[in-house]
Amino acid sequence: MNDPQNARKPKILVTRRFPDAVMARAARDYDATFHDDSTLLSGDALVRACEGQDGLFFSPTEKLTAEVIAGLPESVKVAATFSVGVDHVDLEAARARGLKVGNTPDVLTDATADIALLLMLGAARRAYEGERMVREERWYGWSPTEMLGIHMSGKRLGILGMGRIGQAVARRARGFDMEIHYHNRSRLSPDLEAGATYHESPDDLLKVSQFLSINAPATKENHHFLNAERIALLPERAVVVNTARGTLVKDEDLIAALRSGRIAAAGLDVFEGEPKINPVYKDLSNCFLLPHMGSATEETRDAMGFKALDNLDAFFAGKPLPAEVA
Ligand code: DGY
Repeated sequence: MNDPQNARKPKILVTRRFPDAVMARAARDYDATFHDDSTLLSGDALVRACEGQDGLFFSPTEKLTAEVIAGLPESVKVAATFSVGVDHVDLEAARARGLKVGNTPDVLTDATADIALLLMLGAARRAYEGERMVREERWYGWSPTEMLGIHMSGKRLGILGMGRIGQAVARRARGFDMEIHYHNRSRLSPDLEAGATYHESPDDLLKVSQFLSINAPATKENHHFLNAERIALLPERAVVVNTARGTLVKDEDLIAALRSGRIAAAGLDVFEGEPKINPVYKDLSNCFLLPHMGSATEETRDAMGFKALDNLDAFFAGKPLPAEVA
């Protein structure tokens, strides 16, 4: 970075314990204050912790609401989130305040798409039930009719949100001989579509989706997108997976459909209100549940941290952020 000898290093608040290599680079290049990871910073505490800082290196667990942004000291001019999702940031408020915000697209695409496939397989093939049966010594030997799941090959996969991650899910699902359908704000070019069928309306996508993968970013418009009315559009005994954000699903409605068998199984990595998820999910054996670990590989988390630091480096060098969202 452009940091002549003796020039003061920019001061940044690092809100979480990020991977070691990321922390080392932050410590090398910045006058960094590292927040102890034992508590999460929010509201006034987050604002107070920003006192005297020039920038912020934060994660989805720190909410940059309009109030927090309004309270930030004038000195804080840039905020780099360790995530591709930016639903924890009020981007309008950031723009109005002149706070630059950067995120970490691309580097977590493959890891997240891998988890979507794991959820599809885990839900459709009853991985949770099987695992438990083995560990609890309730497995009495191979059986022609036990633990029958749903076949993925030849099924229609509907992808809601065909951005980078949706496309990577499609590529993987083709390897399972699935037929790809999608809805996206805009239709992809034929080379990116790669034979997938575009549905202009999300409801039309639901009607054909024997498997549904939610890959759209959370917005005000798609809050509780998957509700009882939309579940009723899905084919009987569909499988639903979500690696995007929990707010796209209305939990009570999905739970009711999982209980009745209208939805055969769900694979969920993200939840509304996480980590305090709707407790009923834990009682449903047709749910395969993961703790928001889509991007959780060593390589990916390092790459996310470096990308967040690239955003800060660019800002303090007077350049545009490589991944600027506000
Ligand atoms: C993101 O980057 O938005 C993920 O959900 C966090 O891994």
